Amino acid sequence: MKNQTAKIFEKYSLNTYTRVGPVFVKGKGSFLWDEDGKKYLDLFPGWGVSILGHCHLRIIKAISDQAKKLIHLPNNLIFKEQADLAKEIAKSSFPSKVFFANSGAEGVEGAIKLSRLYGEGSRFEIITMKNSFHGRTFAAMSATGQQKYNAPFKPIVPVFRHVSLNDYDALKGKINKKTVAVLLELIQGEGGINVARKAYINRVRNLCFKKKILFIVDEVQTGMGRTGKLFAYQNYNITPDIMILSKGLGAGVPISAVVVNRAIADIIKPGMHASTFGGSPFVTKVSLEVFKTIKEEKLLKNTIKMGVYLTRKLYELKSKFSFIKEIRGMGLMVGIELKVKSAPIFQKALARGLIVNSTHLNVLRIMPALNVNKSEIDSGLKILEEIFKEVGKK
Ligand SMILES: Cc1ncc(COP(=O)(O)O)c(C=O)c1O
Repeated sequence: MKNQTAKIFEKYSLNTYTRVGPVFVKGKGSFLWDEDGKKYLDLFPGWGVSILGHCHLRIIKAISDQAKKLIHLPNNLIFKEQADLAKEIAKSSFPSKVFFANSGAEGVEGAIKLSRLYGEGSRFEIITMKNSFHGRTFAAMSATGQQKYNAPFKPIVPVFRHVSLNDYDALKGKINKKTVAVLLELIQGEGGINVARKAYINRVRNLCFKKKILFIVDEVQTGMGRTGKLFAYQNYNITPDIMILSKGLGAGVPISAVVVNRAIADIIKPGMHASTFGGSPFVTKVSLEVFKTIKEEKLLKNTIKMGVYLTRKLYELKSKFSFIKEIRGMGLMVGIELKVKSAPIFQKALARGLIVNSTHLNVLRIMPALNVNKSEIDSGLKILEEIFKEVGKK
């Protein structure tokens, strides 16, 4: 039976989401509670956004302190919070200049516009990957290499060439005089946790250098510690020309960043791009606190440790259930590919008080908060094992 809130959604909200579950009313760390007081273990908090878990005390404090001081200013005025965050991002990544927006897709749009400038009108084709996901705005959707997202909206933006991840020859074969950029996720998230191989990325990066093609990494999902390094590209011994961040950057407040290598940053000039809300004092102050918290709570170390633990436990499950096809991922970004559909397992887990994610028809995605602990992982996997036993019996 549908709850009252679900009925209101159905009546008044545009029908863009398949909404499920009870009415959630509060969260703390890796847990959520519904209106009846039932507790849920959330191993996919905020779709990869809530990297510090729900309602982390330091984030609550940063939000309330900044809300009392200054919430919004337009980007033609100077304020410290945004300047400090741009500096923090550049210092923790590569020599760069940063543009702030509000969502992942908007970050991708910014990177695409920069590529157009870099191509100076004669180069404008961008190579992206099959199975990728870059967002729902028009160019980001067109960049996304999955028919299911753009088929109803054709004609799409026409300059994207899609190739398979980890297929160097296919990518090289698509390069022509008009190619201006390669855009990819180092780990495809929505596409089912597909990890780019190190040798492949190194070859692509070198090819881009040689051909003066921009190498752009979409770190909307992989950024901010998810893989055990602050940014996923740092696992690959390369430096991108542009990096897009969002999700964990604000740990719950809406923010994204287009991080542009200094070598090309100055091709964009005043008036060419903007965002009314982007990088407000409020969101940038909160994001600064996210950086501090990751450092001071040693969350990269925890991500590596818990990632190894989670993966080891998942391999134990794989040895017990023949319908588990593969375990993939890095750090706390893990996918379990099944030989059966994953959506019913997501539903069963939710009914038992566990939140994971089902993507790409047969992949369960687990992306816990970076401060998750062993006992939380154990509790989650105990529930999954019970469900797997039922599935195995059928
Ligand atoms: C890799 C990647 N890029 C872009 C996006 C789009 O982000 P948003 O939904 O904030 O626009 C997502 C969202 O899941 C993503 O995973």
